[in-house]
Amino acid sequence: MANIFTRTADGVVDWFNARAPGFMPVYRKHMSEYYAPKNFNIWYIFGVLSIVVLVNQILTGIFLTMHFKPSAAEAFASVEYIMRDVEWGWLIRYMHSTGASLFFIVVYIHMFRGLMYGSYQKPRELVWILGMLIYLVLMAEAFLGYVLPWGQMSFWGAKVIISLFGAIPVIGNGLTEWIMGDYLPSDATLNRFFALHVIALPLVLLLLVVLHIFALHEVGSNNPDGVEIKKGPKGNRWSPTAPADGVPFHPYYTVKDGFYVGCFLIFAAFIVFFAPAMGGWFLEHDNFTEANRLVTPEHIKPVWYYTPYYAMLRVVPHKLSGVLVMFGAIAILFLVPWLDRAKVKSYRYRGVLSKVLLGVFAICFVWLGKIGAGPGTDPVETIIGRFLTAFYFLFFLTMPIWTKIDKTKPVPERVTTHD
Ligand code: HEM
Repeated sequence: MANIFTRTADGVVDWFNARAPGFMPVYRKHMSEYYAPKNFNIWYIFGVLSIVVLVNQILTGIFLTMHFKPSAAEAFASVEYIMRDVEWGWLIRYMHSTGASLFFIVVYIHMFRGLMYGSYQKPRELVWILGMLIYLVLMAEAFLGYVLPWGQMSFWGAKVIISLFGAIPVIGNGLTEWIMGDYLPSDATLNRFFALHVIALPLVLLLLVVLHIFALHEVGSNNPDGVEIKKGPKGNRWSPTAPADGVPFHPYYTVKDGFYVGCFLIFAAFIVFFAPAMGGWFLEHDNFTEANRLVTPEHIKPVWYYTPYYAMLRVVPHKLSGVLVMFGAIAILFLVPWLDRAKVKSYRYRGVLSKVLLGVFAICFVWLGKIGAGPGTDPVETIIGRFLTAFYFLFFLTMPIWTKIDKTKPVPERVTTHD
């Protein structure tokens, strides 16, 4: 029996290869002959998890689009219809709306891993830049999506964020109107946001993700030791020319990643079933009320994944300066590969200074997030927010100095688990 199956499978593969000979080399390059360092740890699963959540967003998004009405008059009611009347509609909607938060959790951990192990350093600058472009598009994508259900926070959030462009001298007001297609968020805004959210940005995202992975596979993965396995000894049990410390991505990491994807899906299901709104953090309470241009919500604030930047915008007294600081905070992340002058990649071999500063940076980012999620009326919190914003920028601006003066430990010749 097994023979019939193997023979049939081989036959299908041969048939396919004869007609599409270019496919197998791509599969080998990126899967069965992509030699990934054998010392990957749990931090290295978040790239694959990002793909999983991206696929979830696209699939659930397709089903939502079948029932959603992109018009200011009908959008809110159509979401209620999905939640109450469409078969499994509540699950699809929550998988999508809660999925957005899970996406950012995964991506933030993925980015932090990059900072810890110096994965942006030469020769992976392009991988980082493409990752940052993904991050930008992802933020835009989530913002557009949040406007679609046309709840109170959709409307007022859109108004506040789009009005930020009004701070730009000369063209500001015209630009704001051009983006909204009106003087306030309206049907025209909802229509164009829908078009961008369901087709334009997902296409860009997918393209960027493919480029991100291709760019990584050109140079090879970094690892927790920050050792270049391509520069180490050659020859393993699969190939005499492959790096000795590498294992084929398929099946070794596909199996390992598969296990962690299973764990992640259990965790994600738990959140989707038991805490989809996460007490207002993932889906804000105000968004369960239909948009009303005559009633302003008590506190207008964005979803948690934007709040660190929103806090920066709010603690800076001058509007245009606040906008510049906010966008500057994202822009500066693009420069990390050139700001870091350390001779070693991984924090494992960096000195105390780098470790402490990275830790304080992470705390500062989370703290800013907490401030941004609050009402913004506490003067003490505003002062703290200013200090944290200053630290955020100083962390990056002084990076060329502290990464250079910090004492490093000798990096091993090979990854630490090469036996
Ligand atoms: C949709 C979002 C994203 C997807 C699907 C994605 C996917 C991946 C995958 C599959 C890998 C290889 C596995 C791994 O090393 O974890 C990877 C590596 C990497 N990603 Fe992403 N990524 C995303 C966003 C980002 C962002 C926002 C950044 C940072 C700005 C980033 C920076 C990196 C870096 C530096 C590496 C190389 C890591 C190393 O070799 O140590 N990625 N990404």
